[in-house]
Amino acid sequence: MLLFHGLSVLAMVGSNKYLFFSSILLLFSCSSNVSLKEKNKTGEIIEVSTGKELYLQQCAICHGADGRLGASGAKDLSLSKLDEKSTKAIILNGKNGMPPMRELLQSEENVLKVIEYLQKLKK
Ligand code: HEC
Repeated sequence: MLLFHGLSVLAMVGSNKYLFFSSILLLFSCSSNVSLKEKNKTGEIIEVSTGKELYLQQCAICHGADGRLGASGAKDLSLSKLDEKSTKAIILNGKNGMPPMRELLQSEENVLKVIEYLQKLKK
């Protein structure tokens, strides 16, 4: 899709400057790792990570970006049949080769976001 878009940008260069610039803007807005920013209760601007970002930062090293890597004995998350409660317990407390992720994920909200993201790895 990006390649196709790139080609259409090239085709438009020179013929229509407005379209050219709006295409560049579109390309920028396509890049995925944009962290959301939000104000916390005391009015500070804080970064809010999505479930996907948290997963890629904290879990993908063992489980892989698609959940199926299985490094150091990690389970294939795309096949996991655990319910939300057991999934949460393993994430918080760890199990065998999996370290507890309670502190790395920092908040209950982040844990829930990651659990939600895990659903997308399943078929
Ligand atoms: C250091 C490697 C490592 C990291 C980092 C890691 N895991 Fe694991 N994970 C494992 C291993 C090993 C197991 C298998 C545990 C066992 O023996 O049942 C596992 C199991 C799991 C299971 C249970 C799956 C099942 O069906 O039994 C879930 C859910 C899970 N991990 C989620 C996560 C999430 C979410 C993160 C990031 C917040 C994460 N893991 C980070 C290694 C890791």
